[in-house]
Amino acid sequence: MRFFTAGESHGPQLTAIIEGLPAQMELQEEMINKELKRRQGGHGRGRRMQIEKDKVVISSGVRHGKTLGSPVTLTVVNDDWKHWTGIMGIEPLPEDIDPRDIKRRITRPRPGHADLVGGMKYGHRDLRNVLERSSARETTMRVAVGAVAKQFLRELGIHTVSHVTEIGGVTTDPAAYAGLSADKLRDIVENDPVYCADPAASAKMVEAIDSIKERGDTLGGVVEVIIEGCPPGIGSYVQFDRKLDGKLAGAMMSINAFKGVEIGLGFEMAKIPGSEVHDEIAWSEEEGYYRKSNRLGGLEGGMSTGMPIVIRGVMKPIPTLYKPLESVDIETKEPFVATIERSDPCAVPAASVVAEHVIATELAKAIMEEFRSFTMEGLKKELDEYREYVKGF
Ligand SMILES: Cc1cc2nc3c(=O)[nH]c(=O)nc-3n(C[C@H](O)[C@H](O)[C@H](O)COP(=O)(O)O)c2cc1C
Repeated sequence: MRFFTAGESHGPQLTAIIEGLPAQMELQEEMINKELKRRQGGHGRGRRMQIEKDKVVISSGVRHGKTLGSPVTLTVVNDDWKHWTGIMGIEPLPEDIDPRDIKRRITRPRPGHADLVGGMKYGHRDLRNVLERSSARETTMRVAVGAVAKQFLRELGIHTVSHVTEIGGVTTDPAAYAGLSADKLRDIVENDPVYCADPAASAKMVEAIDSIKERGDTLGGVVEVIIEGCPPGIGSYVQFDRKLDGKLAGAMMSINAFKGVEIGLGFEMAKIPGSEVHDEIAWSEEEGYYRKSNRLGGLEGGMSTGMPIVIRGVMKPIPTLYKPLESVDIETKEPFVATIERSDPCAVPAASVVAEHVIATELAKAIMEEFRSFTMEGLKKELDEYREYVKGF
């Protein structure tokens, strides 16, 4: 499976094309819309989320609720486009209009964004040309594609969930959700204002967001993605670019504002001896091989072990501050306080939804690389047989 996303933040629409999905997979717009709505939620989101009520249109690759095996095209219209037709128009500018007179032109790059370097790289004197595509609005389509991937995984008995474990230094107590299944965790998270599974920490996170907002500042945090039901052996040890941990980490790092990834105990492993890190192997008739603990987060030697995959990512605080940082105007070269395009105090809850979807997409891709049937039924059969084989290995 491969996919592309396209579209500018204030352009007419966002698009994704997915190729390589098996035929006969159930797919309906509603499955995707549910996830798009979650991406737009979470305490700490502001004005743009009220303007855009994202809804997907599937315009190819699906007939009567099932995939055809042909490319699936997904589109989300930007409701705000109607206010931007002049500024973001596709047609050439009339000769009597100087591009420097276009409204909402940006010549003051925002620190922490792609504005300055993107402008240098592509020769844009109006940095809006960079902002429009580098904006996290693109993550809408990453979630849409991920929702399709999640449906694929679900049909194979693989379930994903994400939750927020830290915002601005407020951390969850893992005991609050230890031992919960992915389904139970999802029920709690979906009803929490910051998509957190620890109610005590959640209340403090909400307070931290409200207080940082008053100060015109922003907060980052940590999100965790858990995948249950992945069979052992997805990924490979034989070549560096087939390693599943590398692929999942790359996917996490590809999300705007994500600056670090850990798997299982992650950076904690630097502090403790090997005996407290590695997971002992056991076998039982009904489960087959399993690990007595899951400190390595379901990945060994670049492959899934069959235990839940646990991966976390850290999001930096949003760089657009109402208390803006100093920058330099690219026309005058004079110092200036940076332009405020729009800003939320915290997008960590929304980012947890994005993280779940990019991870689901990467795992679905890895599975499709290894099990190659062209129909969903064929794939299910292959995977079931493989699961039986590894159990008795
Ligand atoms: C879901 C989500 C929402 C975001 N919302 C904003 C925002 O409102 N304002 C902002 O300045 N940055 C926001 N960002 C972060 C920027 O997109 C990101 O920092 C920027 O594109 C620069 O990329 P980098 O941080 O990966 O270097 C958001 C990121 C995500 C994942």
